[in-house]
Amino acid sequence: VDGEPVGYTYSPTGEYSSDRIDVVLLRDAEVVRGSLLYVRHPKNGSPVVYQVTEVYSRKRVRGYEEALLRDGGFLEDDEDTTVHASAYQWGWIDEDGRLRPLRHHLKPNTPVYKADREVVAKFTKPNSGWSIFLGYDLNSGLEVELDMYHLIRQCCLICGSVGSGKTTTAVAMVCRAAMLNPPVRFFIVDKDGEYTALSEKLGEEVVRVPWFRFFNPSQVSVEDLLAEFGWHRGWWTSKILLRAFEAVKASGRQPTKETLLSAVSLLSPEDVGFRKDEYEFEKYKSSVMRSLESSKLLPERSLECVDPVMLLRDFRVVIMDLSDGRDTWSQKHLVIAQALRRIMDEALENPAFGCVVVLEEAMYYAPQYGMFDVGTKESRSKLLSVIKEIATNGGRNGVGLWVVTQRLSTVDKTLITQCANNVICHSLEDLDKRRLSEVVGDEFTRLLGNLPQGEAIVKGTALKCRFPIWVRVIPEVYPSSSKSNPLARFEAMSKVEATCVCGNVDLPG
Ligand SMILES: Nc1ncnc2c1ncn2[C@@H]1O[C@H](COP(=O)(O)OP(=O)(O)O)[C@@H](O)[C@H]1O
Ligand SMILES: [Mg+2]
Repeated sequence: VDGEPVGYTYSPTGEYSSDRIDVVLLRDAEVVRGSLLYVRHPKNGSPVVYQVTEVYSRKRVRGYEEALLRDGGFLEDDEDTTVHASAYQWGWIDEDGRLRPLRHHLKPNTPVYKADREVVAKFTKPNSGWSIFLGYDLNSGLEVELDMYHLIRQCCLICGSVGSGKTTTAVAMVCRAAMLNPPVRFFIVDKDGEYTALSEKLGEEVVRVPWFRFFNPSQVSVEDLLAEFGWHRGWWTSKILLRAFEAVKASGRQPTKETLLSAVSLLSPEDVGFRKDEYEFEKYKSSVMRSLESSKLLPERSLECVDPVMLLRDFRVVIMDLSDGRDTWSQKHLVIAQALRRIMDEALENPAFGCVVVLEEAMYYAPQYGMFDVGTKESRSKLLSVIKEIATNGGRNGVGLWVVTQRLSTVDKTLITQCANNVICHSLEDLDKRRLSEVVGDEFTRLLGNLPQGEAIVKGTALKCRFPIWVRVIPEVYPSSSKSNPLARFEAMSKVEATCVCGNVDLPG
């Protein structure tokens, strides 16, 4: 039995292709952008599914119409108007459940039907049992599920403009994946501490750790310090620092302000081959000591750092909270790079270890060159190289990467391209739509239009079908930040103001 008939294929030029079809819709047919339609395969009768990218109406043009409208006359003439839908081909599913393209031609004016739940289900449900629920397909109301294997093996991009629902989507995905059997482990680099809401659902499976607790001073290299101070290797100050650094390392201690300052104070001119007068050498030394004291990279004294790999064994979700500390991006970059490097190294060595790395607000960690400059050039490139390694090599070693971002144009282009294997896209600004088109094609971005909050177009290897589906995402918990919205803030301030008005406020002057 066929689904509800919606119309017939039509071509104003008389040429018919099977990749794209134009359909003249029957009166009252309910077809919208994103709808799934099908025609019968001309040889075997299977449903060949098409997705609508545009619905438009067409009225026969009359010479006098413009003039009539100018004078306020309006000729209602439904008989002259037809509604059309243009749609592109997804294909048909063969006996083995594989998707195939229709390569035969279609006859002109072929009947077109609405794809009902049964037809769409073949395209939206992954075969494997290790999958997470995302939301409902808006056309058929069917559950859309994502296959975990592909969300780890390939990356995932969750994008959308501010307030479109990215973080809510990411939180829901993490939450559901952490409850699978076996549970997926997550390392979340959380810019604003929004993922702590996960503990409402996952309780003690979640741990939040302030970013600086991951800092491992023994992994700071002398190059990191030279970069921080902006010194060239050949300078006397650099030579003093290098010697002091070697001395500290040789004694098995951590490089800290305390250990490096004491090592510098012990240096003599001969240690670095300085042959001019002693007084000048002391001046160089005190310059090095001043820089060390003001360093942002070095801790005062030795620290006990936490190991992300150990935490991931004990907890399903480890949140690296970056919300403390304002202008410390160069340090944050270094510490994130250390933690990610540790995770990647463990995964390369240990086949019984894996996790998904979630980068919230990716432009802070992997900015496109010259577009967004937090931290320093050195701190950015150090972190970017680890992230790129995870993006290209992580998947096959059990380290997945989910990138959540607002501005696609400010995120490193190769990273976006890697992540485009799976895209969950909320409403986007035009500039970012264009960037996305470059990696996933125009068909996808044309579907976006203006999506309401919480709705997304989803495409990727984690879906059974390789075509975009329009999904209403069902949240699990809301991100922590959304609990203090602008309205609540101003309400709080108006209460304070109300109490002030009663008192006598002395104004200066
Ligand atoms: N799937 C959804 N269903 C219902 N409401 C949502 C959904 N996603 C987001 N919202 C609403 O939108 C607000 C902003 O979502 P959020 O995920 O923080 O946006 P973003 O991270 O894109 O800035 C949330 O606080 C919530 O009120
Ligand atoms: Mg957000």
